[in-house]
Amino acid sequence: MKKGFFISFEGCEGSGKTTQAERLNAFFEKKHIDCTFTHEPGGTPISEEIRKILLHHNNVRMSPLTELFLYLASRAQHTEERIIPILQKGFVVITDRYTDSSLAYQGAARNLSLELVQRLNIIATGGILPDITFLIDIDPEEGLKRLNGKDRIENEAVAFHKKVRNAYLEIAEREKKRIMVINGERSEDEIFADILQLTKKHRRFGELYDER
Ligand code: TYD
Repeated sequence: MKKGFFISFEGCEGSGKTTQAERLNAFFEKKHIDCTFTHEPGGTPISEEIRKILLHHNNVRMSPLTELFLYLASRAQHTEERIIPILQKGFVVITDRYTDSSLAYQGAARNLSLELVQRLNIIATGGILPDITFLIDIDPEEGLKRLNGKDRIENEAVAFHKKVRNAYLEIAEREKKRIMVINGERSEDEIFADILQLTKKHRRFGELYDER
C-alpha cells in the first residue's frame, strides 16, 4: 500500500492550478519534504508521446472514445512507472491533473458517461486516488481569456468548458472528503494560503510529516 502522500490539482483551462501546484512543490522543498511534481497527460516518456497525439491541433477527427483511451493509457503508464514508486518511498507526489480530468472532460463534456470513465479510471490506476484534490474553480470564460496559444482541447467552444466546470463541481459535491473546491477568482496569495492550510490540516499529511 502507498506510504507517501498524493495530491492532485484540477480545474478548467487557465484556472491557475499549475502556478499553485508549483508553489506547493516549492513549499515542500523548502521544508525538506521529498516531493515530485508531475502532470497529465504526460509524466513519463511514453505518456509524453501519447500527450503529443492528444493535444495536436491537427487531430480534430479523434473520436471521444479514442480520446478517453489515450488519456487512460497515458495515466496507466504514469501511475505505474512514476507515481506508485514514489509513493512507495514515502514521498509526496503532486500531479497537475489526474482521474477527475477524465471524468469532467471525457465523461461529462464528451458525453461518455461518468460511470464508464469511473470504471476505466479504476482499471488504469489500480484504484489509487489522491489523498487530497484541489479543484481551482473559475468561470471558464475568464480562464480561456488568460490563455496565449490554444491546443486541440482548449479550442473547444465555451459551452464545452462550462460542462467541464459543472461536472467538476458535481464530482466535488459527491466526494467532499477528498476534493476541496478553491475559489480561483482571488489573488494568488489568498488561494495558496487556503491550499497550504488544507494540506497541513489533512489527517494523513499530519501523521506523515508533522514534525516538519
Ligand atoms: P495541458 O497543456 O496540460 O494544460 P492544462 O492542464 O494547463 O490545462 O493540457 C491538458 C489538456 O488535456 C487540458 O485541456 C485538459 C485535457 N485533459 C482531458 O481532457 N482529460 C484528461 O484526463 C486529462 C488528464 C487532461
